[in-house]
Amino acid sequence: MIITGFCADGFKNLKNAAIEPSPNVNVIYGENAQGKTNLIEAIWILSGAKSFRGSKERDMICFSEDFARLELKLTDSEREQEINCILSRNPRERKIYLNGVKQSYLTSLFGALKCVVFTPEDLELSKGSPDIRRDFIDLCISQIKPRYAKTAAKYEKVLTQRNALLKNISLGFSQDHDLDVWDDQLARLGAYISVMKNQYSKKLCQFSKKLYSEISGGRENLELRYISTIFDSLEQRNDWQTGLYSEYLERLKSSRADDIKFGYTSLGVHRDDLGVYIDGSIARDFGSQGQNRSAALSMKLSQAYILFEETGEMPVILLDDVLSELDKSRREFIISKLKDMQIFITCCEPIRKLRGKKFLMEAGKISEKVSTKKKKAVEK
Ligand SMILES: Nc1ncnc2c1ncn2[C@@H]1O[C@H](COP(=O)(O)OP(=O)(O)OP(=O)(O)O)[C@@H](O)[C@H]1O
Ligand SMILES: [Mg+2]
Repeated sequence: MIITGFCADGFKNLKNAAIEPSPNVNVIYGENAQGKTNLIEAIWILSGAKSFRGSKERDMICFSEDFARLELKLTDSEREQEINCILSRNPRERKIYLNGVKQSYLTSLFGALKCVVFTPEDLELSKGSPDIRRDFIDLCISQIKPRYAKTAAKYEKVLTQRNALLKNISLGFSQDHDLDVWDDQLARLGAYISVMKNQYSKKLCQFSKKLYSEISGGRENLELRYISTIFDSLEQRNDWQTGLYSEYLERLKSSRADDIKFGYTSLGVHRDDLGVYIDGSIARDFGSQGQNRSAALSMKLSQAYILFEETGEMPVILLDDVLSELDKSRREFIISKLKDMQIFITCCEPIRKLRGKKFLMEAGKISEKVSTKKKKAVEK
């Protein structure tokens, strides 16, 4: 999949920032606070995912403007597609079109533009807290199965309602049996989510293991395992509508007394984790900084490879400020592994070694910088 044209106007500090990207490498360079990450974020949100910076839609509009305009053209293996958006602080004035067809939300765009973004925070994927890995797996599966995103959002809603009820019960306003209806829904949604996460974790392990072995020169072994707070093992299990649902429900019932005492749901997919092990030991506790970074890079690269395997489309890669965080060998490794994909890289200095188009970002305005060699060749 290749982005053939992109324009952002009034998106944060971007001013009519229009580019015709190279199908290979695109380097966006410039000093700090000029708008490089804003450009990456603008492309990313057109993939239908939440902002990787946590920006709300209203925060994306330039302080001095009422609207932000985003346009993107892409070519995939089947056809050309177009996304056109007008974002507004007033949601009723928002206009989002995919190939001319009106969409209600940015999330409705999920599936058309496939992207994988690498940010400096992603380097914490192995070392950081479990919620980072939970969000990562949720996103990875949603990119492949939009239905999963809806189920995960529903789970969150039901969980919030169950937690509110637990507090009401401890205050004497509600009865224990009022929980039955919420437990039933949590168990149904949670059993499905557990199966999906376990299956994805297995695939992620296969890909990441190979990549990690390459980075470590074959000296170390990486394993990833889905850790559930409900099930001891999900090996060969796919019966989320029957057996797994019943087991999930039982576990919720058995923790009910504790949950009422503490006022929150102590077990479930919202407490699960992805175990990252290097040579058998938990990486976040025993791994070095370098080992954890290699594990994180292997997992992010695997996200791109699995997306390709599952959808048949090479994702567009967005590397925001990541290369400058890495040493030379990891930098070269990651670029070599992404060489068949379209890449957008942000950095402060233009990277001379990288072939492709170079764009300078200055105060929200972008301009292509043609090398003197190329210029001379054109003039001739
Ligand atoms: N809603 C907004 N309206 C206008 N400007 C905004 C808005 N939100 C953020 N900005 C501005 O965007 C700029 C930051 O842009 P960005 O994060 O893209 O910088 P950058 O070029 O990636 O910098 P760095 O090299 O430090 O990562 C800041 O100057 C900030 O004030
Ligand atoms: Mg930045």
